Amino acid sequence: MASVTAHKHPARSAASILDIRPMTGALGAEVRGVDFSAPLSDQEVDAVEAALSEHLVLYFPDQELEPDHLKVMAGYFGELEKERFIPPLEGHPGVHVLKGISKSKLTTQNLIWHVDHSYKPEPSFGGVLYAVDVPTSGGDTMFSSMYRAYDALSEPMKHYLEGLVAVHDVVAYGLRSGLFETEDTRQAILRMPLPAEHPLVCTHPDTGRKMLYVNEAWTTKIKDLSPLESKSILAFLFEHATQQEFQCRVRWQNKGLLLWDNKAVQHRGVPDYEGPRLMHRVAIQGTWKPS
Ligand code: SIN
Repeated sequence: MASVTAHKHPARSAASILDIRPMTGALGAEVRGVDFSAPLSDQEVDAVEAALSEHLVLYFPDQELEPDHLKVMAGYFGELEKERFIPPLEGHPGVHVLKGISKSKLTTQNLIWHVDHSYKPEPSFGGVLYAVDVPTSGGDTMFSSMYRAYDALSEPMKHYLEGLVAVHDVVAYGLRSGLFETEDTRQAILRMPLPAEHPLVCTHPDTGRKMLYVNEAWTTKIKDLSPLESKSILAFLFEHATQQEFQCRVRWQNKGLLLWDNKAVQHRGVPDYEGPRLMHRVAIQGTWKPS
């Protein structure tokens, strides 16, 4: 399996094969020129990795994919990670089902801004979503670039945050929010190991760029600060990290495939739709420990 590596000329190598249209000035690109229902050449995998490294969020429209294709696709970039809180697709270990529900209800299908699995010592490397049956409008997915969030901090604030460590805990938000839809999910949350601890400022392992590493769903406190200091700094960071200038927004259509670099972005689904919204989801396990 390929793994993500640094690319000397990411834009050039990706652009030579793929049709890449950036979504915003911050991040995200719509990508054509690759078909994930067929095996990819090494060159194609390299091009997708390079595009991911540059744009962080890639949307591939019009992909005709079965669950097995999703497993192969995710496998180009890492191991499939077991999701603890999202139901599996029967017969397809590693593929999970996101089924939209009524507006604004918080569940495993509808979280506030988050980084997938930052409550683990080794959070997901990347995320994959595939639109099986999505609303004609609404239900977008929003992303925010943690490179941009870090870069936009003032120098004194960068200096202050450097070296601070935050606690990421699934339990607090999970139990508070009604995240659990079933007793099994609630028990799974309670069985989670101790919270993870990650630096507030991390370095991306492929690009060497610094990024803010914090998210509203799972980051519960900053170590060594008083409770009020921690709460106040986190409130500032949550707001700072998700400003519009750092964002892109994916507007789904059926058969759209999304791949994101979970190390360098936060995301959330927008619960502004009615009716069904069915996605297949794969989490990609990495070996990176935020540092
Ligand atoms: C997620 O939070 O991982 C899914 C986002 C979405 O449903 O758009």
